Amino acid sequence: MKEKVLILDFGSQVTQLIARRIRENGVYSEVKPFNIPLAEIRKFSPQAIILSGGPASVSENFAPEVSAEIFEFGIPILGICYGQQLMCKMLGGQVEAGTKREFGRAFIDIKEDSEFFSGAWKKGEAREVWMSHGDKVSNIPPGFRVLASTVGAPYAAIADEKRKLYAVQFHPEVAHTPEGGTLLKNFTHVIAGVKGDWNMAAFLDEAVEKIRAEVGQAKVICAVSGGVDSSVVASLLHKAIGDQVKCIFVDHGLLRLNEGQKVKEMFARDFHMPIDYIDASDLFLKKLGKISDPETKRKIIGATFIEVFDREAAKFSDAGFLAQGTLYPDVIESVSAFGGPSVTIKSHHNVGGLPEKMKMKLIEPVRDLFKDEVRKLGLELGMNEEMVYRHPFPGPGLAIRIPGEVTAEKLDILRQADNIYMEELKTHGLYRQIWQAYAALLPVKTVGVMGDNRSYDYICSLRAVTSTDGMTADFFDFPHKFLSLVSNRIVGEVKGINRVLYDVTGKPPATIELE
Ligand code: XMP
Repeated sequence: MKEKVLILDFGSQVTQLIARRIRENGVYSEVKPFNIPLAEIRKFSPQAIILSGGPASVSENFAPEVSAEIFEFGIPILGICYGQQLMCKMLGGQVEAGTKREFGRAFIDIKEDSEFFSGAWKKGEAREVWMSHGDKVSNIPPGFRVLASTVGAPYAAIADEKRKLYAVQFHPEVAHTPEGGTLLKNFTHVIAGVKGDWNMAAFLDEAVEKIRAEVGQAKVICAVSGGVDSSVVASLLHKAIGDQVKCIFVDHGLLRLNEGQKVKEMFARDFHMPIDYIDASDLFLKKLGKISDPETKRKIIGATFIEVFDREAAKFSDAGFLAQGTLYPDVIESVSAFGGPSVTIKSHHNVGGLPEKMKMKLIEPVRDLFKDEVRKLGLELGMNEEMVYRHPFPGPGLAIRIPGEVTAEKLDILRQADNIYMEELKTHGLYRQIWQAYAALLPVKTVGVMGDNRSYDYICSLRAVTSTDGMTADFFDFPHKFLSLVSNRIVGEVKGINRVLYDVTGKPPATIELE
């Protein structure tokens, strides 16, 4: 029997991170809405259940709840944040509306040894955790004991070990709780007793089955960009439904040097899949015109993409589905972390689906995965490493790496500089150590001296960051020699650039892309 953990989602921004941690520990897990029928929970027959955090307050009218019967299943249940408060309220404890929010790093005092803490925390220690809550538990239900406390939350970790019920106020799923992964592993492996032998190969088999069941005999259109995510999706679909999938590649002319050609070749050579290649570069440049505002540029590119794609997709009027390589961080990227109000930082043009008038259903087979998981899936599918380890590349392409007006001349200059940078990163074995690197062309000219002549050319700015999911990032600390080598090559070989800068800003406060 397959081991499964069910995560009931109460709307936290980081619920998927719980699933990810559980998967990392080799256990299959699914996130489902908190209000799925009890019969569905029974049918899923999980070895353990996790109740996620969420923005609601248990004292509100109509606060989201689960059926009390799950506490009678006899399987381990872990409540996190809202999940803890809900458990307490439902099992006879008390929750107090918080007068002030506790948000951020906190130190937790370990009061008792517990299986939940084994290999991570010991009685008497103080450990770092991440807190984010308004309400807090003020009285624990009968049968529970306190395992750990913080100054702001005396019942930060509690358990009724006999009934295998555990509840924490902090977030073990986020990286800011350093031993959180171990605690979750203790919950699944020690407390729920799962073996943890699930892996990406199993995910692949399940994904193939799911696609077949969902799609049936229908045709699927898949938009490919040459990036890892859409290529993995194309390859996955091809494995699942063969020639029922039709790939469309819109070349907006904002790609890296020779990228369009390379993608075409790769699909034919490695995937044995033809793609419908549309060169729309002139149209995109025309539409961008003299526009320099970042959001307007993004919107124009998004709308033009849809216009071209729509026209092309109409040729396959019998298609029932449209596949997209949306990843989990794409879904939450423009939302401020931990439940704050949603702020659109940038409108990502590949998220939010396609035009409403399109009659096709959307299929997003890697929507629950993080980038590194998609890469593992790509390897599992037999894709080559160069493709799988490609850095992320944004939908609007080089247009957001040329702040201000985009012209054919600037694109041409930038492509050459970027190509030199990429070549050197690969030659020096640095490419894989970096989450994402790119050259940008700043729309300012400065004076230089080349030989005996004065030059007046653009500035090229180089960026390289480390990150786990693109949501936060640090600049990569290159050896100075490397930077000066790249700078010399760019200034020496690319006509139109006479100065190179290296961007040393993190995210936040900057973003990874310039626009
Ligand atoms: P920012 O610049 O917001 O980027 O820090 C975070 C990550 O997202 C990528 N990015 C995009 N990806 N469509 C995409 O597919 C977009 O419109 C888009 N904008 C940014 C960016 O390259 C980085 O990996």
